[in-house]
Amino acid sequence: MAIILTKQLTKHYFLGRKKIVIGLEKVNLEVNEGEIFGILGPNGSGKTTCLKLLLGILFPTSGEARIMGKLPHDIEMKQHVGFLPENPYYYDYLNGPELLSFYASLFSIEPLVAKKRIDELLELVELNNARRLALRHYSKGMLERIGLAASLINDPEILILDEPTTGLDPIGCRDTRNLLLKLKQQGKTILLSSHFLSEVERVCDRIAIFHRGYLLATGTLDGLNRQYQAENLEDLFVKTICAFDNQEAVKTGESK
Ligand SMILES: Nc1ncnc2c1ncn2[C@@H]1O[C@H](COP(=O)(O)OP(=O)(O)O)[C@@H](O)[C@H]1O
Ligand SMILES: [Mg+2]
Repeated sequence: MAIILTKQLTKHYFLGRKKIVIGLEKVNLEVNEGEIFGILGPNGSGKTTCLKLLLGILFPTSGEARIMGKLPHDIEMKQHVGFLPENPYYYDYLNGPELLSFYASLFSIEPLVAKKRIDELLELVELNNARRLALRHYSKGMLERIGLAASLINDPEILILDEPTTGLDPIGCRDTRNLLLKLKQQGKTILLSSHFLSEVERVCDRIAIFHRGYLLATGTLDGLNRQYQAENLEDLFVKTICAFDNQEAVKTGESK
């Protein structure tokens, strides 16, 4: 069953004087319950735009986005969703437990429940030994992990992660990957974006390839490789994107 759904979802950014930038163009996406789904695409391909539309941070130009059947502004639905933005900023004089307490207060979680949850989350993201350390002394990998813990504070069924491994070293990537697999085992649905191919290849059940705001292909990696006669994700990426660009070039040529 599709727990996240977009129908002809479109976002045009209007930059004044008739200048329009396509953020997303008529994207139909379905993410099933319990899967890790990766939105893949180069920088500027519409990944963040798509996630923000789903979360109600941006409003669509046309089309529709739904999570658990609800529209993005539905408050009740938001209780079930965790979000890790692309470049999160934290009050870095706080330590891990203090940051998580702050997020717990945003969800009006009772202090006793919050305390237990924070202990569990610090254990999960392996930051229990760094409880007293202020965030300004964290490594990038630690920041990513505390961010993940923060996005899990309300024990959401759905996690939306924008570029969760960008800027991490191989160990940081591996830790995040293992964490995502653990969360999947707990039954969570994870929608993540990435421009980092090999990371996604290893954890995602299904992927979607975005380019210039368009959804070019979606499916399992094996299925897509077969369909496009690609050897691996990199090859698939190049094949779908080049095919699209060539088609566009023909269209532009025709219209001249
Ligand atoms: N606030 C904005 N105003 C104008 N253009 C934007 C804005 N946000 C994104 N864009 C444009 O929309 C396109 C998609 O951007 P984005 O969704 O951030 O891509 P990605 O996350 O894949 O890097 C890009 O061309 C980008 O320049
Ligand atoms: Mg982005």
